[in-house]
Amino acid sequence: MAIQIDAEKKIFTLETDHTMYQMQADAYGVLRHLWYGAKTGCDMSYLQDYPDVGFSGNIYAAGNDRTYSLDTLPLEYAGAGVGDFRVPAVAAVHADGSSALDLRYYSHTVKPGKYGIEGLPAVYAAEDEAETLEVVLRDTASAVEVTLLYAVLPALDLVTRCARIRNLGETPVTLTKAASLCLDISRGSWEWVHFHGRHAMERQMERRLLFHGIQEIGSTRGTSSHHQNPTVLLCTPDCTETAGACIGAALVYSGSHQTRLECDQLGQVRMVMGIHPDLFRWELKAGETFSTPEVMLSYSDTGLETLSHHFHQAIREHICRGKYQLAERPVLINNWEATYFGFDTEKILHIAEEAARLGVDMLVLDDGWFGKRDDDCSGLGDWFVNETKLSGGLHDLVEKIKGMGMRFGIWFEPEMISEDSDLYRKHPDWAIRIPDRAPMRSRYQLVLDMANPEVQEYLFRVMSDVLHSADISYVKWDMNRSISDWYTRTLPADRQGEMPHRYVLGLYALLERLTAAFPDVLFEGCSGGGGRFDAGMLYYCPQIWCSDDTDAYERTKIQYGTSFFYPVSAVGSHVSTVPNHQTGRITPFETRGTVAMAGSFGYELDLNLLSDGEKQEVAEQIRQFKTYGPLIHNGKYYRLTNPMAEDAALWEFAAQDGSEVLVQGMLFHAEANVLRRTVQLRGLDAEKRYRLDGTEQVYTGAALMAGGVLLPKAWGDYTPVTMHFSEV
Ligand code: GLA
Repeated sequence: MAIQIDAEKKIFTLETDHTMYQMQADAYGVLRHLWYGAKTGCDMSYLQDYPDVGFSGNIYAAGNDRTYSLDTLPLEYAGAGVGDFRVPAVAAVHADGSSALDLRYYSHTVKPGKYGIEGLPAVYAAEDEAETLEVVLRDTASAVEVTLLYAVLPALDLVTRCARIRNLGETPVTLTKAASLCLDISRGSWEWVHFHGRHAMERQMERRLLFHGIQEIGSTRGTSSHHQNPTVLLCTPDCTETAGACIGAALVYSGSHQTRLECDQLGQVRMVMGIHPDLFRWELKAGETFSTPEVMLSYSDTGLETLSHHFHQAIREHICRGKYQLAERPVLINNWEATYFGFDTEKILHIAEEAARLGVDMLVLDDGWFGKRDDDCSGLGDWFVNETKLSGGLHDLVEKIKGMGMRFGIWFEPEMISEDSDLYRKHPDWAIRIPDRAPMRSRYQLVLDMANPEVQEYLFRVMSDVLHSADISYVKWDMNRSISDWYTRTLPADRQGEMPHRYVLGLYALLERLTAAFPDVLFEGCSGGGGRFDAGMLYYCPQIWCSDDTDAYERTKIQYGTSFFYPVSAVGSHVSTVPNHQTGRITPFETRGTVAMAGSFGYELDLNLLSDGEKQEVAEQIRQFKTYGPLIHNGKYYRLTNPMAEDAALWEFAAQDGSEVLVQGMLFHAEANVLRRTVQLRGLDAEKRYRLDGTEQVYTGAALMAGGVLLPKAWGDYTPVTMHFSEV
């Protein structure tokens, strides 16, 4: 049993294979957090010994006990306004205008399997893979009830959490904050890691010591954003890839989010993660319920690598869905960097012919095939084939491409609308804007009101029509701006605060409907590259275009940051031309192939423009990806260097059974008169013997892990590394 309950002491213990999460409803019914960490087999409440702390008041029921303070105790879900002055998890305004929530234990239930969340993406599991605990808390004065849901997936060392908030009263209550996670850690010193960035430079890893006070990451852009990914790691200062304690938290949500970490007066740490409260108000009428998005949590005391393995497996096997979830992904050729908007049928077929000849599986027609779309000023919303560009129409083009032995994919940016479009001329009121206020434009475009069911219906219909009109196997779902000017005609004035979350619910509803209606289509997420790279989108799209930055050198840093939580199969990654279109950098062709292979692989250039030698390399890279693809996507991923700090980016894929290993990467700079570098491998069987492909040289697993492999001599900058070892 993953969930154990001591009914007398009201202690709830959630156990995974290697971790333990514990809480207790105390004598006053306050649900206290006791422990999240290694398995101890013990009631951990003995660690809770609190002094009388000045200016930290006491609950009324505690009488003269000045040591009992909500301001110092570790809480499972802190309500605002009742004497806990740290970051709250939940806040509400009642009908009388007061805003306090004092949540106390009411009841609990244990259920087999994993709970789901209506309308929101969440971890799923078979009945025998998970167990769910529901703890019901009620406010001491109002009729607000909060059910905390915990699911335990023991084999993955995963605990998931969310909250369901219900108004049991007669009068409405307005939620002003409803976090998914509140995690209080009373002991130890902690650093935190987050992943910041910008367009074309996403998920840059940053590790910092926690200071006293509040540190925060978040997004108010309506998407999870390029700027701050909704994932956070806490780790002890001595934590490395292979040793030390760490906790990972990933929000399964694609809208505005906030994570606050507070180091309080006693040095305790609180992490609160969820929907960004600045863009959230939610009215709960009598009897209504609000469900928060989910957070995935994992703990490791063997370093960051173990934590990443937990998240990779959890996201790949329990978030991603559909036909392509575990399937080998097609090798793509995307025309964006090859042509931008300047293409016609002939040009696309020309690109396709060479791609087919070299072994590419699928051609993806990017932006510009619809409406009036010769640049980014017009056309969004008009999802009808532009027959001036594509004479003969889509069906004809697709049939020709299929005739070459390839499949066909297509780009959409469903949530957007150009003012210069037929859709806007017909439905200007479908664009998000505040009446009588000029809206912000970004990339010249406006955003459709996804909270409006008519908009969802229109998009379902036009996109379905396109997908039915030809044999389309793949959809790239793009989203190219941040959202502001929040307003929807579908809600009254006093409920406009619900709009940002309702936008996300509308997006998810459409994605759910389309992915269900087209189960054979591979959906790839995208938002100006990786601006919406989150576990929420991965529930609908098993892969996401990782970044608009296709420079192999910069990509190693972006993919490094991405790898802490997200599996390699989720990372859309392509070889592009040089000088690179984002940085002007020139890297060797082979290096670009190596970096792109650590993902869902493809090309983004006109293959006709390559030299004969490069074309041969393309064919060889595709052959290599077909050979190593299963190991890359199903193997365990190891970060062998930190490219943010070292002069090389090296990573490894080891087969789950230790039978083979692939080392890939790039040596950034060459130096004269230096020893060749070595790098120690991980995750091998020490006893086994491995041969390096293309040589007769055999090593023991112990040697490869202790002595390391001798890397190629760096010659010129950005020397590629590909070394494959098989068990002999
Ligand atoms: C975004 C995507 C690109 C490309 C363009 C098209 O920037 O990330 O890959 O699809 O839009 O406009």
